[in-house]
Amino acid sequence: MSTYQNFIDGSWVPSELGGTFENRNPADRGDVIGLFQDSTRADVERAIRAAERAYCSWRLVPAPKRAELLFAAAQIIAERKDAFARDMTREMGKVLEETRGDVQEAIDMTYFMAGEGRRQYGQTVPSELRDKFAMSMRQPLGVCSIITPWNFPMAIPSWKIAPALVCGNTVVFKPATLTPLSAVNFVKVLEEAGVPPGVVNLVTGGSDVGSMMTTHDAVKVVSFTGSTAVGRTVNQNAAATFKKTHLEMGGKNVVMIMDDAQLELALEGCLWGGFGTTGQRCTAASRVVVHEKVYDQFVREFAERAKALRVGDGLDDRTQMGPSVSESQLETVMKYVEIGRKEGARLVTGGQRLTSGPYAHGWFHEPTVFADVEPSMRIAQEEIFGPVVSVMRCRSLEQAIEIGNGVSYGLSASIYTRDVNKAFAAMRDMYTGIFYVNAPTIGAEVHLPFGGTKMTGNGHREAGTAALDVFSEWKSVYVDFSGKLQRAQIDTE
Ligand code: UN1
Repeated sequence: MSTYQNFIDGSWVPSELGGTFENRNPADRGDVIGLFQDSTRADVERAIRAAERAYCSWRLVPAPKRAELLFAAAQIIAERKDAFARDMTREMGKVLEETRGDVQEAIDMTYFMAGEGRRQYGQTVPSELRDKFAMSMRQPLGVCSIITPWNFPMAIPSWKIAPALVCGNTVVFKPATLTPLSAVNFVKVLEEAGVPPGVVNLVTGGSDVGSMMTTHDAVKVVSFTGSTAVGRTVNQNAAATFKKTHLEMGGKNVVMIMDDAQLELALEGCLWGGFGTTGQRCTAASRVVVHEKVYDQFVREFAERAKALRVGDGLDDRTQMGPSVSESQLETVMKYVEIGRKEGARLVTGGQRLTSGPYAHGWFHEPTVFADVEPSMRIAQEEIFGPVVSVMRCRSLEQAIEIGNGVSYGLSASIYTRDVNKAFAAMRDMYTGIFYVNAPTIGAEVHLPFGGTKMTGNGHREAGTAALDVFSEWKSVYVDFSGKLQRAQIDTE
């Protein structure tokens, strides 16, 4: 069995105490992918100090040169896309088509951020005084702690690490314990592309590692994607030393289907949005609000299609929906199915764990649809992160928007309608970070801001040029070439 190591200061090294943890395939838990370092606080300390030292020279490398390493990295990832996708499916279960998409997102983001090596535009403005020059420029901050989830094991690390590097920061990276192999694959690529020692450090392990990375004095930025509960702890940890903190957390995204919608399109969209990635996306379409005129037909056909989805091992090309990522994630799904039943929602398909035949050794669950859900029910309010969709009825666009906004999260929302006025009104009135017209709530592209309102985030965005605002800060520079003291804001007539 393979043992994978941490990457600290340019070398692959074991944890100081030699502890490891196992990574197993959620579709077949007899399949052990490897052993990974169960790192200690001393390991994190070494990684942070290495990043701190490396920052002294990395920040001075011209940004277009830093970008050249990212261009090279993106190319290497592209060459290994299939192998990386297979590793990813094996460690977290989503189907190959989707893990290829995940790796492609990492390629796209790395290329996009490499392009920022020649931009990172600031402003030059006229000065209010004669013979004086005024401009603003971005500057890096230092060591960034990057803490990433298991559902997009290569895409999300790339969303954070590529902009951090191109801005001139150095990185300590802790991936989810369920997906360390994709993190090792990504960091190996950066090593091969020629990223200098200490600029990127990988430390695998649990919450001890995370807590050190979010409290250490030398860390200046924390970028975290994960649950709202853990995000709150991250924010509290980071507050004591005023670290810049970017949080990307839960979602309870809604698809609104109006009576004039192309129903076929809406059905396909809800199926992909609700059950793609086994519902384990923060952008998942876990709520569907349907106009009463088309409600019964939608519920009937949606349940039929959900029931027909082929569940199985994501490595099998015929599979449409893989397992839940872990036993505890599966237990959460089962708990919410029970909650939905008790709350009086109508279970129209699914609702059971799958345990026989090919499902015997994995964390599989049926695609599940609840209808006649009330907006106040827990299954309509709380993030489940599994293959469970809650369908609700509405009488009007206004009511759909009220239901849509009536949750504590604000990541993504969508409307299906052929009425341009309705589409624009919904686009304006849904208080979310992302909005779609005639498409499901998932599938954000790398070159626009990604993030959400309310309990989904803390006002920052990643992806697009918005990510540069997380990983750099502004410096305004004035150059006075008059040769005499000029006093701004003093009334000199
Ligand atoms: C996530 O679920 O954390 O927009 C990210 C999407 C993907 C990213 C999802 N591009 O659905």
